[in-house]
Formats: sequence, C-alpha cells, structure tokens
Amino acid sequence: MESCLHVFSSKTKEMFGPLHDKARSTMALIQSSTRGVVVFVALFLLVVLISVRSINNESFTAGVAASLSTAASKTHQTFFGRSEPHRPAAQAIHFACGLGNQVTTTPCQRRTPPSPSSSLPSPSCPEYFRWIHEDLRPWSHTGITPDMVAGAQKFAHFRLVVLDGRVYMEKYHSAFQTRDVFTLWGILQLLNRYPGRIPDLELMFNCGDMPAVPYADRRDSPPPPPLFRYCKDDSTADILFPDWSFWGWPETDIKPWETLREELKEANQRMSWMKREPYAYWKGNTHVCKTRREVLRCNVSYGKEWNARIYQQDWRRTVKEGFKGSNLADQCTHRYKIFIEGSSWSVSEKYILACDSPTLYVKTRFHDFFSRGLAPGRHYWPITDRDKCRSIKFAVDWGNSHKKEAQAMGKEGSGFIEEQLKMDHVYDYMFHLLSEYAKLLTYKPSRPEKATELCSESMVCPAQGLVKTFMIESMVNYTSVSNPCTMPPPFNPGEVKEILQTKANCMKEADMWVQKGHVNLTSNNRLC
Ligand SMILES: *[C@@H]1O[C@H](CO)[C@@H](O)[C@H](O)[C@H]1NC(C)=O
Ligand SMILES: *[C@@H]1O[C@H](CO)[C@@H](O)[C@H](O)[C@H]1NC(C)=O
Ligand SMILES: *[C@@H]1O[C@H](CO)[C@@H](O)[C@H](O)[C@H]1NC(C)=O
Repeated sequence: MESCLHVFSSKTKEMFGPLHDKARSTMALIQSSTRGVVVFVALFLLVVLISVRSINNESFTAGVAASLSTAASKTHQTFFGRSEPHRPAAQAIHFACGLGNQVTTTPCQRRTPPSPSSSLPSPSCPEYFRWIHEDLRPWSHTGITPDMVAGAQKFAHFRLVVLDGRVYMEKYHSAFQTRDVFTLWGILQLLNRYPGRIPDLELMFNCGDMPAVPYADRRDSPPPPPLFRYCKDDSTADILFPDWSFWGWPETDIKPWETLREELKEANQRMSWMKREPYAYWKGNTHVCKTRREVLRCNVSYGKEWNARIYQQDWRRTVKEGFKGSNLADQCTHRYKIFIEGSSWSVSEKYILACDSPTLYVKTRFHDFFSRGLAPGRHYWPITDRDKCRSIKFAVDWGNSHKKEAQAMGKEGSGFIEEQLKMDHVYDYMFHLLSEYAKLLTYKPSRPEKATELCSESMVCPAQGLVKTFMIESMVNYTSVSNPCTMPPPFNPGEVKEILQTKANCMKEADMWVQKGHVNLTSNNRLC
C-alpha cells in the first residue's frame, strides 16, 4: 500500500482476472437500478410537464438521478417564482457508453455548459494551499515560456493540454501500474466539477517516485523546467499534485479516497481508542526501502519489547487471496500507528493519520501536497532518524501514561485528514494550482499534433474490472454549486524559513526527551 511497491510486475491483466466478477456484478447492479429510476423519472416528468433533455436509456444512474434533481429545482423556480438568486443549481454530468461499453461514436462530444459562479462568498482554503505560491515561485518573475515546458519533456510521462475546456494528452512513457490513468481521470473529474472554469494550459507530468528537478543554482540562472509530480524534497523544484490514489489504486484494491475516508471514520467509531491494543502498529511492504527495514527491527519478534507491532504485507500473496486482510479501514486497531516513507513519499500517510490514534511519524525528507500543513507535536509525534526503536517505545510509554494528551493528538491528526483533505479540498487544490500555473504561461497553448483527446467517456467506457469500478465510484456526477475555496495569501519572506525552523526544533526537542526520558508539554498541552 505504499509507493515503493515495485515488487510485482504491472501485468495488470493477470492480476485483474479474479476481480472481473466483482466489477461485472457492480455493472449489472447499476444497469438494473437504472431501469427503475428511468421509469420513475418518466412519470415525474409527465406530471410536472417540464421538458428536460431526453434521457438516454444507457446513461448511468447518476446522470438520470441528476436530471431528476434539475427538473425538481426548475419546478421549484416555476411554481414558487423564486429561487436562491446566488447559488447556481448543480448540473448533472450526462454521459453514456454505447453497446458493449465501447464508445460507438466520437467519444468526446458531450459538453457540459460552463457553470456560472456563485455570488456567495466562499470560505478560505486550508493553510497548506499557501504552498501553491511557493511551488510556483521559481517562475513568478519570468513566467513560463514554451521552451521551459519543452525542457521538462525529458522527465515527463505525459504532456497535458487544456484548451477551451477540452483535454488533450500526449504520452511519452508508460507509468507504473495505473498511476497515469487515475491521475488523468482525476483531472477530467475536476473539469466536470468546474466546467468552463479551468483555464487553457499546458503542462508536463511525471508519475514516478523520485523528485528530479533541482532548483536553479544561482539567482541569475534560468528557472528550472516546470514539472508536475506527486512529491518533492526541499532541494527540488517539482510542482506538487495530488497522487492517483485519491481516485483509486486498483492494483492494491485501495478504493477511491472519498469512500475510504468514510470507512475509516466508521472504523474509528467501531473501536474506541481505549479499547485498542496499547502498541504502535505498522503494516506494509518492507522489502524496498531502507528505513522500513530498520523499523522492522523494532518488532517484538526481534526479542526486545519496543512497543511496536510490525507486519509484512506480501502483495503477491494478498492479491492471490483476493485482498483478504489488507483492508485499511480494519487497521485502526492499535493506539498508535507508525508512518514510514516509501521509496519517497507514501500514499499510506492519509490512511494512517485518519485512525484517531497518534501517528508516530518517522522523519522523511519528502513532502506531498498536503503534508506541508502537518505540524509535529500537534498532528503527529515525530520519530527522529537515529534510535527509531527507542523513540517508538518512548512515545508509546508516554501516550499510555498520558492518555488524554495522546488521544488529543490522535484526534488532531485524523481531524486534519477528515476536514482539510476531503475530496472538495483536493479538487480545489488542483483548481487553484492549475489556475495559478496557467496565469504564468507567457503563451496560448495549442493542441499538440500527436495528442489524443480525453474525456470521461473515452476513459471509463473501454475500461474493465476494478479500474472501471473505481472510475465510476469516483466520478464527479454534478457540477459544483459553490465556488472553489478562497486562496490564502503567499507566505511573507521569512515565514517559510520560520515554519521549517519550528518543525526542526520540535523534532530536536522530541529527540531530546527520548534521550532524557521525560516530556515537558507546552502550556496548551502540546509537545512543542
Ligand atoms: C512481528 O512480530 C509479531 C509477533 O511476534 C509476528 O507475528 C510478526 O510476524 C512479526 N513481523 C515480522 C514482519 O516479522
Ligand atoms: C457518481 O455516480 C456513480 C454511479 O451512480 C456512483 O457510484 C458514484 O459514487 C458517484 N460519485 C460520487 C463522487 O459520489
Ligand atoms: C517545563 O517547561 C517549563 C516552561 O517551559 C519550565 O519552567 C519547567 O522548568 C520545565 N520542567 C522540566 C521538568 O523540565
């Protein structure tokens, strides 16, 4: 479940064999429920005598159900002569696959009319959105030229162009598993959510693990090539974008984030913190990364009680056994959860933090788009590089003797994930990042010669198995009724340094406590 999972090949067909049935029954279900809804909608339309766009028998439930809501809101407006003046009604995203789920005609014909913006003020975005300004700072004075974008091509898996709300993609290399597929799917869903509001743009995207673009050496050097990817460290200028797992990771049976987030919330309610095992838990693939092998040695099976319970996730076996025992929502059973980086960042971060159990966060140099908003001592307990086992033991002993504080830390961590990382915010992050990026382009992009047009139909209709299931599950079915959240201002000069310094100090302090053997909490009962 981590990003360093190269142990199995990406022969997805082989792996999806046993999963086909699940997907097929899902499809059957959708189709049969569609019929019922169609009948209901037809009656409804007769009664109110309002004409709406004709309903295609093969549309998905969502489209049909949405027509229903559009019709209802029209009725409301007509009959009561009044409607909310500010908030535009949600438009249904209609779409349909042809027979045999193949796209029969040119797939990308559908156009959702641009949604008018709401005049209601929207709340401010989470603080971590401020890093968007930082990520784009290398180009803030020069802008982004066609040459700079071309310079990023050698790193890229694909080039993405948005022109007048249509999406074109030129593929250069195959990405690992379905990373690129679900990243592109996510971008298409963003366009469905805010039709007509994503500006024209052109960007290069790398789906790999390791950040690759160093900052310019000197002040007067030309800016680095702009490259989008999922993670960076403090020495690289890669532009952070949410990873594929928010829309699903079929190869590991990790469901779309919105579904999983709900399941984790329920799991937290099922088992109270006090009833959980009083140890620190980690489960994953230890084979690829050095840090993980080191933490493995803290396991009780090595003969010493470090308060850690470490389990190996053997993905080959897990796949064979139909993902029995790998459900993330069933892993909120211990009072503490350990986070360890993958071969760079790890998508497991959000699942671990969501458990209501304090996260013992093993230091990593990698950031993803939201982890920069996490504060040590508040959202997690920092575990320093040296003496990992001793730090883990110390943190668990501390928590078990300071239950109130430990529970508060667990809640802060899961609260962050619950609130600041819901899908609405993930989409808004993408919206603002792409909008700010597009502002920097010094030219109007054009359609690349070898590019293909992408839309929900062209991706979901020919898809199969769990890929299809996850696409449908994470599909945006309505345009947004509210505006994106309001972008917070850039950091002042010095503020970034201060934040990094505070983090570093906190880690040092935690390390000192481990060495001294006791903790001195701050006045608001926090670690630092
Ligand atoms: C860690 O210890 C537990 C308890 O002895 C054992 O069940 C588990 O397999 C060990 N984990 C690893 C990766 O060896
Ligand atoms: C959109 O509709 C599909 C099919 O009815 C459903 O499975 C999916 O969860 C919906 N999407 C969202 C984001 O709720
Ligand atoms: C804990 O911190 C407070 C204020 O920072 C300080 O006055 C106190 O002496 C510290 N206690 C210990 C045991 O270090």
